[in-house]
Amino acid sequence: MNNFDLHNPTRILFGKGRISDLDGQVPADAKVLLLYGGGSAERTGVLAQVRAALGDRKVVEFGGIEPNPRYATALKAVDVIKENDITFLLAVGGGSVIDATKFIAAAAELEGDVWDIFTSWGGAIKSAMPFGTVLTLPATGSEMNPASVITHAEKGAKLPFMSSHCYPVFSILDPELTYTLPPRQIANGVADAFVHIIEQYLTYPVAAAVQDGFAETLMRTLIDLGPKAMETPNDYDTRANVMWTATLALNGLIGAGVPHDWASHMIGHEITALNDTDHARTLAVVLPALMQDQRGPKREKLLQYAANVWNIREGSDDARIDAAIDATRNFFHAMGIDTRLGDYGVGPAEVDRIVAALESHGMVALGETKTITPDVARRILTAAL
Ligand code: NZQ
Ligand code: ZN
Repeated sequence: MNNFDLHNPTRILFGKGRISDLDGQVPADAKVLLLYGGGSAERTGVLAQVRAALGDRKVVEFGGIEPNPRYATALKAVDVIKENDITFLLAVGGGSVIDATKFIAAAAELEGDVWDIFTSWGGAIKSAMPFGTVLTLPATGSEMNPASVITHAEKGAKLPFMSSHCYPVFSILDPELTYTLPPRQIANGVADAFVHIIEQYLTYPVAAAVQDGFAETLMRTLIDLGPKAMETPNDYDTRANVMWTATLALNGLIGAGVPHDWASHMIGHEITALNDTDHARTLAVVLPALMQDQRGPKREKLLQYAANVWNIREGSDDARIDAAIDATRNFFHAMGIDTRLGDYGVGPAEVDRIVAALESHGMVALGETKTITPDVARRILTAAL
């Protein structure tokens, strides 16, 4: 196992009715900026619960954060913070609202050009405002990690950053808040979490028995419960397990001390930047093609994945790897997610644009061994057409 440091300061408040705990989590004298998305939180009554729990605190609201949150929108929130002497941010929503809140929290305290946050992958951030979250969509793990992904529409860029200053202070995870999710978003969340696990698992072995076993359990849980969450949306136990799995998939635990890939994510971000395809769907397209392309370097872990996640134990090595890749693709299909670029209007001409965008963003040595060059990315994308 590789050396690692692990520190996760986010407090998790999990379970039914936990929004009422907000009163004890947000400082009593805070001036709060309540951030939310395009209206689902208002429609579902979550915002009403949050407003009630915040009581007499001064609260300013900032709605309209888009899925794949936009840089320009986030900067408007920074102005609102400065105009109203806001001291605490509260994100209510999915990964997009939480990611935007991280960027806003950092940008509000940054001296200099905020775009530096992206060119430095977060290194330019020296402090950030405190913020909490109320999660309504289990998927990204953003509620318990220091990462964020922001889209700059004019630059055609969707770029990530990370900073130890950008962990939420607390996150409220009430599975009942997820009952209102449309099937498309349930599927997206399960697929995204599944690929987060794979990106920290399907590399090469480093004798990390606990991380591997934990990752395999999380994947089997999603394979089992993902379709059930779509079939029986109001089943609390199913929703609770999916929610907790998505958080554990990307809160640092399974990734500690093991190699990471993230090539599917970086290639996928460029597809979303191109045509706004849902994040999870870009992953379901790229991952199976990447597994096939990288079956040589990933051979040992692919065989382990076949056996321990899919119970594929018969046949030659190559046959078991083929079966595991097919099973992965079929899992996405079972969740109602298409796995070909053509399903999302992306053809050969767009492949060139995606590869050019990767190059322009310095994504020229991706994967656990940095061998996914633009040429390899082109090969993977062409196979995914
Ligand atoms: O905008 P509203 O009206 O609120 O509706 C949202 C949105 O349209 C809706 N929704 C959320 N909770 C709901 C609900 N509808 C009904 N009931 C509820 N309870 O769902 C739609 C999608 O929301 P969004 O926040 O965009 O989805 P998700 O959580 O999948 O986040 C995706 C974003 O996270 C980034 C992605 O790139 C993408 O921009 N990621 C962030 C990561 C991180 N911070 O670590 C890692 C991920 O790999 C990912 O890149
Ligand atoms: Zn993701």
